[in-house]
Amino acid sequence: MKDYVFSINGKFVDEGDAKVSVLDHGFLFGDSIYEVVRTVNGKLFAADRHLKRLHKSAQALDMPLQRDDDWFIKHWRAMHKRRGGGESYLRIIVTRGVGPLSLDYSKCDKQNVIGIAKPLNVWPDEDYAHGCKVVLAHVRRNPKQATDPAIKSGNYLNNVLALKEAREHQGAEAVMLNVEGHVTEATTSNIFMVKDGVVKTPARKEGLLEGVTRGFIIEVCRQLGIRCEETIFTGDDLLNADEVFITGTTRDVMPVGHIGRHKIKRTPGSITIRIANAYHEVLHDPKNHQ
Ligand code: PDD
Repeated sequence: MKDYVFSINGKFVDEGDAKVSVLDHGFLFGDSIYEVVRTVNGKLFAADRHLKRLHKSAQALDMPLQRDDDWFIKHWRAMHKRRGGGESYLRIIVTRGVGPLSLDYSKCDKQNVIGIAKPLNVWPDEDYAHGCKVVLAHVRRNPKQATDPAIKSGNYLNNVLALKEAREHQGAEAVMLNVEGHVTEATTSNIFMVKDGVVKTPARKEGLLEGVTRGFIIEVCRQLGIRCEETIFTGDDLLNADEVFITGTTRDVMPVGHIGRHKIKRTPGSITIRIANAYHEVLHDPKNHQ
């Protein structure tokens, strides 16, 4: 079984040969988009939703995809097969391509597609049993009016710096506020809080990536008859929550036990547990597998 697998434009290569030109605008300017699909029992989970978001990112950056959906599905499957076992984390990056050393991309006519597969992250059991620690980062999420965080682009520098703050305090994740001081999301996961039986997650307009997992959790709440609001809340609201959890492709539903030194009231809380169990069913439902 291989740990890492690499491909360039559909061709599998060794790490040393997994190269793009230094004139690729993805490298030069972060002018690229990406998606991460995971496997469940060796099948692609929710690849249709990830593809939909890839198209949305592509459209927002004026770089319509040069390969069709079938190509991406087949390549994600091939990447997993090539790893040869276990569950996979399958990242596909689409770059603007090679062009002159200029912000003007009109001469970049051939996108590069890079595949990187690795084993699906396994987070400490302790984080699921007693909740992980997150910090409230000083670095802010970029506003929608700049590079919209709804675009899953290669520009993750704010998130990189926010995660550094988390690591400095032994945190697993960093929660990022927007410039108005409202909670948006964490560096590679979305965030939810529970207060008085109501589940809340930041509204899209606050500036965040609409996670595929986030979308499933909103649907799961509806099915369970739990009220779920896409709304506005602050860091203080989060500290006063009854329960807090983060969601994402690699973490599923992970309860939060501490925000900095502050302990969250219930970890994991009963509503978080119900949602996590229901999401487990969604993950294993063959109708979500491709
Ligand atoms: N990150 N917010 C951000 C900024 C993210 O990068 C991610 C995912 C999420 C959660 O989205 P989803 O539920 O679709 O995974 C939220 C991926 C996993 C990554 O960069 O590895």
